[in-house]
Amino acid sequence: MSAALVPKIGAGDLYAGHVNPQWVRLLNLLQMNARYTRCEGAELHTADGRCILDFLSGYCVHNTGHNHPAVVAALQRELEASGPGMLQSHVPEAAGELAARLTALAGGRLRRAFFCSSGSEGIEAAIKFSRAYTGRDCLLYGEGAFHGLTCGALSLMTDKFWSEGFGPMLPGTEALPVGRAADLHALEKRLATKKFAAFIVEPLQSEAGIRVFEAEYLREAQALCRRYGTLFVLDEVQTGLYRTGPFLAAHHYSLDPDMVILAKALSGGLVPVGAVLMSETVCDSVYSSLRRAVVHTSTFGENALAMRAGLATLDVIENERLGERAGKLGAELRQRLAQALAPYEMVKEVRGLGMLSGIEFAAPRSLRLRVAFESFRHIHAGMFGQVLVMRLFRDHGILTQICGNNFMVLKVAPPLVVTEAQLAQGVEALRRVVELAHTSASFWSEALGLARRAVNI
Ligand SMILES: Cc1ncc(COP(=O)(O)O)c(C=O)c1O
Repeated sequence: MSAALVPKIGAGDLYAGHVNPQWVRLLNLLQMNARYTRCEGAELHTADGRCILDFLSGYCVHNTGHNHPAVVAALQRELEASGPGMLQSHVPEAAGELAARLTALAGGRLRRAFFCSSGSEGIEAAIKFSRAYTGRDCLLYGEGAFHGLTCGALSLMTDKFWSEGFGPMLPGTEALPVGRAADLHALEKRLATKKFAAFIVEPLQSEAGIRVFEAEYLREAQALCRRYGTLFVLDEVQTGLYRTGPFLAAHHYSLDPDMVILAKALSGGLVPVGAVLMSETVCDSVYSSLRRAVVHTSTFGENALAMRAGLATLDVIENERLGERAGKLGAELRQRLAQALAPYEMVKEVRGLGMLSGIEFAAPRSLRLRVAFESFRHIHAGMFGQVLVMRLFRDHGILTQICGNNFMVLKVAPPLVVTEAQLAQGVEALRRVVELAHTSASFWSEALGLARRAVNI
């Protein structure tokens, strides 16, 4: 067949054919299968001429906005220099530079960094390093946590949706309720057994529903870990890199963790990267002799592109004072959302820290809405939030998502460079969609149809 006669197959069809057809079906069902052609700041431009506002940031990847010119330029310079990208046989100087800056920003006992290429890989490293340091093998984690989808990370998550069919998971992991002063007693009881290498916890549980902890909880938990020789490890994969205002969410509570895991926003959303910050003693327990100099490594870990992107990202955040912006605009955003959504009975709470917020919905009290809501929930528990997401995207050009482990919480996490006008547009869109859910029969009939199709395909 001549080239001219070969039917044209779009890149999307190739994806469905050779990568993950179910993902394409899901996006089609939700009417969210857009083709993006140019992404800049908080704006996503599509091939059919729409401009979508990103209120999700790829789950906190795009703190500096999409394709920040300074990060792009740093990557271009690195490529043009034709340096040793990934030699595995030299000292990558940019990794030293980035580690020095990250640890200085983190403060406390965090003086060394291990680099990898994802959040899950960082969690795996934290598991190994805490075991090496303590000589213990058990691990504690928080109920509702999300730490990633590798087997080690899955072993630290209570929601069985993620691990079903992939077992067995790591033995010796135990979940605890976290976040309230009342939860500390159970934590101390487990720590007192002295069998736990680490307590691994997100300082704000993101996928659990933007759960902000009681002020004293984390400080007390850290003190208890110290008392019983368990490492206090913070997963700041979503909350790090100024997402909540300060460099780490840990800084809201003046914490001094033994290890911190970073990833997502660290390289400006352009190169896969992860980092585990730790104390010198924890690091030395792994790299304890010449023989063990490479005992825990990762091929792409310290690659020059990721390191240069990381350094440029820190420059952008500092130069544009994005941390301060996240704190100030994030608080204003929550205030505006709370005000705009106050009249609606299904809105339970607006909460968050910095530019990481969630809107929690609850079953309606009024009979009229309850009938629709319950029949809908009966078909598919996650679909109510998903219909809000679909409506926001389709009718108002706002991209967001519900939390992975709590379908009743809608995430609001735009890039830290989002403008006040874009925030106002997002708030009004949210108000209009929530209003529709409270007043329009068509919202519920469309929702029911969608839920039925979702369970039938
Ligand atoms: C809090 C948290 N930890 C860890 C991970 C895993 O990161 P990755 O997807 O880069 O492996 C995620 C991913 O969403 C996360 O939200």
